[in-house]
Amino acid sequence: VEVAYIDALRGLSGDVCPHRSVIAPNRLETGSWDYLAALFESVKADPLEGLRGQLRKMTGRRHIFFAPSGRSAIAQVLSLLPGKEVVLPALTCPVVKSAVELADKSASYVDIDRNVLNATSLNFAPAMKPGRILIPTHLFGIATDIDRIQELANNTGCITVEDAAASFPAYLHGRMLGTYGDIGIISFENSKRIPSFRGAAIIVNNENVIDVRKLAEHRLVATTQGLPIRELLSSTIYNAGTTPWIYGRITLPRKLRFYMRQSWAEPRAKRNDATPDQFYSREFHPYQAALVSRVLRRGDVIRRHMAKLAAIYQDTFRNTTIETFVSSSCDTSGLLKFPIAFPHGERREILRLALRKGLVLDTNCERPLPAASELVSFPNARWAAENLLLLPMYRELSDKAAVQIASEVIEVQQLISKQVPLTRQSDTTQTDRIEAYR
Ligand SMILES: Cc1ncc(COP(=O)(O)O)c(C=O)c1O
Repeated sequence: VEVAYIDALRGLSGDVCPHRSVIAPNRLETGSWDYLAALFESVKADPLEGLRGQLRKMTGRRHIFFAPSGRSAIAQVLSLLPGKEVVLPALTCPVVKSAVELADKSASYVDIDRNVLNATSLNFAPAMKPGRILIPTHLFGIATDIDRIQELANNTGCITVEDAAASFPAYLHGRMLGTYGDIGIISFENSKRIPSFRGAAIIVNNENVIDVRKLAEHRLVATTQGLPIRELLSSTIYNAGTTPWIYGRITLPRKLRFYMRQSWAEPRAKRNDATPDQFYSREFHPYQAALVSRVLRRGDVIRRHMAKLAAIYQDTFRNTTIETFVSSSCDTSGLLKFPIAFPHGERREILRLALRKGLVLDTNCERPLPAASELVSFPNARWAAENLLLLPMYRELSDKAAVQIASEVIEVQQLISKQVPLTRQSDTTQTDRIEAYR
């Protein structure tokens, strides 16, 4: 989001905030009542064992291990696998690349399929060589054809670490994502469907590829255990700050001012994601397990709501030129976000126009993982990184709000398509571009 909005606001001055109620791009599925109730639940029984039992039931797997985060889980698993070469989709969460580096492996990339936004078996096939480790990923909760990838991996002597971090709980052919690869990873980080500040689970689907005893004990960096008090407070503030009234009047203006300041500043030195932080050093706490267990108990209600929101978006965009990425076989109840793309227009223009209408559109993975000089080999990843927009999906988003968002998206699209063909920044001044909106 930061990357896309800093770019979108570059060259603008003055107040660009609508200063009225605005629907936030995300809200947590956990609320104050959950935080309180989980405190009591976490002292009653062993919440880690309780959650392990729930996950065993959902996955049908015996070996489930908790980890500080999805990224640390991936690094931990990789470091115990013999292969040196790891094959990743060119578009995924950048922390996955850092996890590969931390595990002292070398990363290579395959392009994604433009229709499903993930690397499929067709993308992975040419990169499959004996001993390689593949990380098939289900971005935004959209399943890749992991069954076929696993079949090919078995035939070519590759090991798969299925990255289901952003797709828990989601299913393919009735089977939970994360249970197809040799090892599966699910995440409980706050931007995910079942948020518990941070944390992850490792699902061992093939005991022959990894030493489960080592996996239980091994950590890449020294870890500590503690009640996540700061995270509890910041999540409570986040929940308050994302109610539409406060979001539009306080949170969003502050964010926009920050993005604007950044857009004027010299580009910052790239943050080094490969430095282990709390995502590596804080153990998954029993309190977090109690929180996950609570939310999982209402998992069916959440999933039904997500399917409804997805259906609203799908139906509204059906006969429009807005591109969607959800096929008929997709488990829409497992979607984390609803990705769309406009047929024309640069994303920064779209974000600005949307903002003027009081619509804050989300973005993610704005930079493909390969080096800039290699990007010609990954046209789909590059296109997706530059063009995808994510519509909100969360339990507190009403059907009415989803209809409103979808209608506003269509209005923005109509405005964009009426505009003079957009020119590149080098061909026109920022002022010209801003004037064109008026
Ligand atoms: C596809 C994917 N993989 C891995 C991760 C890392 O998970 P975590 O934030 O729990 O470290 C993320 C996080 O956003 C993700 O989206």
